[in-house]
Amino acid sequence: MGLKPATNPDVEAASIDLTIDGQTVTAKDGVSLYDVISSTGKIIPAMCYHYTFDPFGSCGMCLVMQEGKKSPVRSCTAKATAGMIVRTEGDDLFQARKKAVEKHLSVHPLDCPVCDADGHCELQDMAFQHQVTTLANAKQKLIPEDTRSLVLDFNMNRCIACGECINICKDVLQIDALQFMKKDGFTQVVAKGDTPLACEFCGDCLAVCPVGAITNKFSKYLYKPWQLKKTTTTCNYCGDGCQLHLETKDNEVVRVTSPLSWKSKWGDRSETAQGHGGICVRGRFGFQFIDSKARLTHPLVRKDRKLAESPWIETVETVVGRLADIKAKYGPNAIAGLITARCSNEELYLFQKLMRAAIGTNHLDSSARYGHLNFIRAVRHSLGVGRMTNDTVDITKAKAILVIGSNVTETNPVFSVRVKEAIRVYKSQVIVVDSANTNLAKLASHPMLVKPGTEGLFVKGLVKSVIEQDLIDTDVTGRHAQAFAALKQAVAGLSLDTVAAATGVSKDQINEAATVFAEAPRSVIICGEGIVRRSGGYQHVLALIDLLWVTGKLGKPGCGINTVIEEANEQGAVDMGTSPEFLPGQVPFDQDDARAKFSKMWSTPLPNKGTGAGLMDILKKCRNGEIKALYLVGENPLGTLPASAEVKAALEKLEMLIVQDPFMTETGQLAHIVLPACTFAEKDGTMTSQDGKVQRIRQTMDPVGDSLPDWQIFSAVGSGLGCASMEYESVQDVQREIMKLLPGYYNLGQPKKVAVNPDGYLSNGYKADVAVRYCVEQKAPDAGKRFGLTMGQLLYHSGKLSTQASGLLLIASSTGQLHMNAQDMERMGLKDGDRVRVSSAKGLAVLSAKVDLSMLPDSCFYPEHFNSPPIKDLMTVEVDAATGVPYFKQAAVTIEKA
Ligand code: SF4
Ligand code: SF4
Ligand code: SF4
Ligand code: FES
Repeated sequence: MGLKPATNPDVEAASIDLTIDGQTVTAKDGVSLYDVISSTGKIIPAMCYHYTFDPFGSCGMCLVMQEGKKSPVRSCTAKATAGMIVRTEGDDLFQARKKAVEKHLSVHPLDCPVCDADGHCELQDMAFQHQVTTLANAKQKLIPEDTRSLVLDFNMNRCIACGECINICKDVLQIDALQFMKKDGFTQVVAKGDTPLACEFCGDCLAVCPVGAITNKFSKYLYKPWQLKKTTTTCNYCGDGCQLHLETKDNEVVRVTSPLSWKSKWGDRSETAQGHGGICVRGRFGFQFIDSKARLTHPLVRKDRKLAESPWIETVETVVGRLADIKAKYGPNAIAGLITARCSNEELYLFQKLMRAAIGTNHLDSSARYGHLNFIRAVRHSLGVGRMTNDTVDITKAKAILVIGSNVTETNPVFSVRVKEAIRVYKSQVIVVDSANTNLAKLASHPMLVKPGTEGLFVKGLVKSVIEQDLIDTDVTGRHAQAFAALKQAVAGLSLDTVAAATGVSKDQINEAATVFAEAPRSVIICGEGIVRRSGGYQHVLALIDLLWVTGKLGKPGCGINTVIEEANEQGAVDMGTSPEFLPGQVPFDQDDARAKFSKMWSTPLPNKGTGAGLMDILKKCRNGEIKALYLVGENPLGTLPASAEVKAALEKLEMLIVQDPFMTETGQLAHIVLPACTFAEKDGTMTSQDGKVQRIRQTMDPVGDSLPDWQIFSAVGSGLGCASMEYESVQDVQREIMKLLPGYYNLGQPKKVAVNPDGYLSNGYKADVAVRYCVEQKAPDAGKRFGLTMGQLLYHSGKLSTQASGLLLIASSTGQLHMNAQDMERMGLKDGDRVRVSSAKGLAVLSAKVDLSMLPDSCFYPEHFNSPPIKDLMTVEVDAATGVPYFKQAAVTIEKA
């Protein structure tokens, strides 16, 4: 319908004046009249309307009188035009709207007492508001409930055919999983083709349904809305940082809802560039880990080779005593710590303070080491910034988007909606480079399917192509002529034919992608695990920055480089200094004045510069006996790293292994002490999203069992070790300290735009750096190993945390299957579920295979969340020389029928 002129950033719609209830109102020509009315603060009823998608015009509630028309008009589908005179109130309109409510109610089963929407139903509200007391000719539909979906039930007796569910799924999410179908004499909402619903299960259709026609299987009949306590918090799964409402009853999470709902229908269409307020399947249906029966409820201490329950006070005394003994005997560098980036900023800050100030070691790291630090280190090194460079509005309004190595609809589903909106509303050209035919590749103007592991080479090809095709911005490159000459020299030995042969994408396609990116007025890059978690990831990010530079997009408004993050607070982990290279604020640890400042603030000397080990070095030092005590917080290296990383050997050498976690893990089984930690729902604090928004997490419920928030445990251990400045009464005390050290960090939802500054690097350092990233590695082929196996993320899971969420396990169980290409399976005589033997240079595993239509021939995929069987053990580990990031997600394998 007609909303585009007002939202297309390249066409400024004309301003017009119209009259609403006697007042002159200025609006953009052509937008929905309903939007114009609601922008004046008048709320008129609207049951089929939501500002995030195009008006549908079915419910007959938004009626207004327009001068010159005899009957009321539907304001949602009417376009605002100059000179229109509109009236929104009056008895005639009240009666017309009342008739519409009566019409809906006359075929609606008045089963409100057993309906989940009772108490928050728009039809109920409208019936009250319009004083509907009697219903003539009411008849019931008596349609059996459709319970075939795994997470949603469809009760079509209650459906008012408003189309909101279909429209959000089709327009906004572009999944298009639902349709109207005439069935048994009634128009009903069914999954496409009237099959069991097989979609992304985001539940946004449930959120916008104004009545109880779609219900949540996990919370059905468990509550009435007034019994629920609603707490707004930040999702703990991925770096998108979605806001969600945890709704609890008697200290149990009953359901999760989103800012997107039928109650949030009044907004300006152009605001959707900032997000649509929905959440994904993990956020909505993956909450059961919070109060899971598998939660650790008491501290455990190993006695007589067994872990036994122990009171907190004694356990903390033991932790403090053993750490103090080890420090006294071997020195502080015999102690190290690793922490998960699902902890809050305050906890991450306290953990590094515990390690550096209370213990005196710089051997510490976080799960940001698994890839995000490649991105951060590259953008810091070359651009002087410490995070992605664009906000969601830039992404939505970009004219060209290069999505590389990122199956973003699976890994960061809500962020992917920005790219979808860029395609649909803003007509962006999207280049997707991936080794699978991803959902986004199917929507993209330029899908580029590359062979597994060649995304980095493809980037080099793009840089070569823009230089060969003379698509460079000579003003920009002219300012750094020496650097540009060095880049030209670095790519001179690279042939596009070689890139085409190795990636499987033709030279013409590479040239076309380069042209689209270079010629667009606003181009952005989104890179993900296929870049930052693959061999050479740091260099690949630098090559992407080269692409931005030579095409004149560095620092240009609306252009930039971005990444998507797996764990909720990886950005916060880097910002809070939980890595050996950075103090809080991403200040280099080796900077003398910075160490002096922190030392003064914490009233204790800090470890010397040049000391400090990250994840892989810590494990090495455990193996060779240099490290005697390891403190793991939410980290499970035994369950994450391949057997060839020899984690078990490292852990078995330790005199003291402390594991602090909400759940017992493979690593926890080997621990001397296990400390039960709270989940995000049981504590206050903040987390930083991938685009730099610092957002609150709020305590929703009491801690499960005797578990404690991580910050309280760090405070107790740190002050027990004699660090007086680690005594805190509350999270707010920690926040006050962070505010003093990092003024402005608590932007609470409003991050400042980052300003890139490449000049320093281009004039000093670039020349020496650039050659290495355009060397094409000559890896010896794995003889006879035909298939490229990739481990990666699934939509329905996040790390290992989601494997504790029964709702997500119902959708994707933790017994992993090998995803294979259909032709490969047919060629090998394999059917879905058949067992296959997969072998690599490191080992062999037997598991069942399944067809995955997104897989290219000769490639296969295994979800990294599952260790049943442990496919990770087929992988070789390679460590990035510059950043210490371990790469272990790809291997050449053979596959045979078992
Ligand atoms: S759950 Fe999400 S993807 Fe599935 S039908 Fe509803 S809106 Fe569409
Ligand atoms: S199921 Fe709900 S949202 Fe969908 S058409 Fe029916 S009433 Fe509207
Ligand atoms: S998992 Fe990510 S995309 Fe999904 S709701 Fe949580 S933060 Fe949003
Ligand atoms: S809101 Fe306009 S017809 Fe439903």
